Amino acid sequence: MHKVKTNNELNAKKIEVFDALKKSVKNIDSNTHLRGESIYVDDINIRQGTFFAVVFDAPVAHGKIKSIDYSKAEAVAGVERIFTYKDIPGENQIGGILPDEPLFAKEEIHFWGMPIALIVAESEFIARKARALITIDIEELPVITTAKEAKEKNSFINAPRSFGLGNADKAFKDCDYVFEGETFSNGQEHLYIETQGSYVEPLENGNLKVISSTQGPTAVQKAISKVLGLPMHKIEIDVTRLGGGFGGKEDQANPWAAMTALAAYLLNQSVKLILNRHDDLRMTGKRHPYESTFKIGLTKNLKIQAYKVEFLQNSGAAADLSPAIAERTLFHATNSYFIPNVATTVYSCKTNLPPNTAFRGFGGPQGMFVIESAIAKAASELGIAPRKIQEANLFQENDVFSYGQIAKQVEAKNTWNAAKNIFNVEALEQNIKEFNASSSNLKKGLALMPITFGISFTNTMMNHARALVHIYQDGSVGISTAAVEMGQGVNTKLLQIAAQFFSIHPEKIKIESTNTTRVANTSPSAASSTADLNGKALAKACEALLSRLKNIVTEEFNASKETIQLKDEFVYINNEKTALTWNELINKAMMKRVALTENAHYATPVIHFDKTKEKGHPFAYHVYGTAVFTATVDCVRGTYEFDDVKIVHDYGKSMSQGIDLGQVEGALIQGIGWMTMEEIAFNKKGKLLSNSLSTYKVPDIFSIPKNIDILPLETEGNEMAILKSKAVGEPPLMYGIGAYFAIQNAIKAFNPNYKLKFHAPMTPEKVLTSLYAN
Ligand code: MTE
Ligand code: HPA
Ligand code: MOS
Repeated sequence: MHKVKTNNELNAKKIEVFDALKKSVKNIDSNTHLRGESIYVDDINIRQGTFFAVVFDAPVAHGKIKSIDYSKAEAVAGVERIFTYKDIPGENQIGGILPDEPLFAKEEIHFWGMPIALIVAESEFIARKARALITIDIEELPVITTAKEAKEKNSFINAPRSFGLGNADKAFKDCDYVFEGETFSNGQEHLYIETQGSYVEPLENGNLKVISSTQGPTAVQKAISKVLGLPMHKIEIDVTRLGGGFGGKEDQANPWAAMTALAAYLLNQSVKLILNRHDDLRMTGKRHPYESTFKIGLTKNLKIQAYKVEFLQNSGAAADLSPAIAERTLFHATNSYFIPNVATTVYSCKTNLPPNTAFRGFGGPQGMFVIESAIAKAASELGIAPRKIQEANLFQENDVFSYGQIAKQVEAKNTWNAAKNIFNVEALEQNIKEFNASSSNLKKGLALMPITFGISFTNTMMNHARALVHIYQDGSVGISTAAVEMGQGVNTKLLQIAAQFFSIHPEKIKIESTNTTRVANTSPSAASSTADLNGKALAKACEALLSRLKNIVTEEFNASKETIQLKDEFVYINNEKTALTWNELINKAMMKRVALTENAHYATPVIHFDKTKEKGHPFAYHVYGTAVFTATVDCVRGTYEFDDVKIVHDYGKSMSQGIDLGQVEGALIQGIGWMTMEEIAFNKKGKLLSNSLSTYKVPDIFSIPKNIDILPLETEGNEMAILKSKAVGEPPLMYGIGAYFAIQNAIKAFNPNYKLKFHAPMTPEKVLTSLYAN
């Protein structure tokens, strides 16, 4: 059996890891977070005379603007100016992948909440007061809110994409069992604690300094450059940290920064725009809802021989990142299973919802929900436990993914077997059977959820980063990279890397803000790849500096370079400590005029993808894991609780156990929320009904599982991962899918007539009606 650390061993392991990295890995933001001293956009000291902005947005989902009357709003004392598309000196266009999204509506309105104008005033209060006085006359047009409707009306963002392996249509004919079904998974609100916002200061010569709550500083810089018609070098973007992004600020920080920059540029005065929660919920895109149809074919011994699926992605009113997200749905359509004949197609359907966008998992979760539904349906029809089918089809070494990549260092079976054995799934199943036999009002359900997630931006071109390292003459170090800290702990990981390479105390190291003048042309902090890409660039920079420092030692001690080591801020030669300290060495470097600054570039090797064939090797590696869920359903009320979530997760060789555990826990709960309670609702006219925290339910302390056990699979790790510590940001979200099926199984235990439903989230209302459905 594959080895997994038990909880008791974990503490020992923690010490071991801290030791290997020499220093503690407490999140470096924890002190200022706890004291409320961490700085977000809204905390910045603003310049005297700063104006405040509020967005005026569309009050219908689809229509033609006949007239707008701004006169009453403009007359409000303290209103400086109202900006519309007419004021844009460059292009009224912020589309990232496709140029299909205006910054401000011109004649047509495409979604409820679409920005039309920016009101700039002496205070936010005044701007809001003025906004209420704007009147607009709109000729309303038919509204599409669902992907299915869009497909029927041929309303698409772009052409559909298909991946294929073998010949699915032919293979179905040889299957012993074939099942078909439909699924729906709803959107999800990012609910970052810090809403979207930006603060822009005009500098001399028409230059701008932009503070933005963005995952993609370069994306913001490019958007502003386009809207203002300015070269990129005139626009500096600076990001200290985000109060959460979750994908919602990969591209959707752009419009707010562009509007703020437009006003600041034209008024030559600082402007601040922070969306309040209502405005943010209404105007921004969310996770994509998907409607899908599947067909799955199995042999008598439960091998999945063929799988066909059509995904309808509800993209919203513009492309945003939808095409890339649709692509990742295809990449993860078979989750952890090897299926020899696969035909998957995804349509990005254009509707009148706010453009949907990146959200933790980036289309992967939506794809994985469908294959798990297909397996659950097959198991239910065959009267067996779904885990029998899951287990029979797990990926093995050298199996091929539908996109052509050969699976290497596969941990699918290892995490599965470890979870099954350590958590004694058979006994658990037996206990649940006995419990259900003796309990009439409470029923329990079990579900296993394996995950396989590819690490790299699926767009190969985006997999690069740079690091700029200064060693100051007093021995302290400043580090700039493209990494944006959004709570995931990447700054702590970067600090660990530098501390380990230089072998100096973490207090000597500062992680600078993310700034486009120090690190340019960056990819967003996304795809769970931030620590890998930026960490590898940082490691390269540190190595180059170390090499130069060692040259000095070589001259000084007449020692050969290989015998020199820096350890705990001392120089060692042949493992013997010398009297030369880090600080003295840096001083010597200054005296000898040796460069103490290094800039390094890293681009992921090996990866490639050919879109004309839809084949290649897009991922540096995959992350694996298996979760075991137990749910208890109250069959009188339709409410449910999770007794247990037990996980064996493949961290590789985790470099920051506390941070990585936090990522798994956070993603797990976010996944459970998506699958069981977070219900986005639009009315038929495209108006968001779940527009506040009283109408949109996110997991709270009472809804998290009573017991969560997350154990690391002991593996070699992967060379392509930073210090062999695998990416961890997104993959564990998909464990949450297990919650959905644990509830399904509990319902089935109560109501034998129940036909499984694949319509997420599985809210208590749906549970209650399912319990009593015929
Ligand atoms: N964790 C926190 N606390 N806040 C966030 O916004 N974003 C998630 C994940 N974990 C997020 C988070 C998403 S969507 C991604 S892609 C990764 O973190 C990004 O960071 P990484 O590349 O460093 O993992
Ligand atoms: N993941 C996350 N964000 C992205 C990706 C991806 O694969 N591609 C472009 N943006
Ligand atoms: Mo994460 S959805 O890649 O920002």
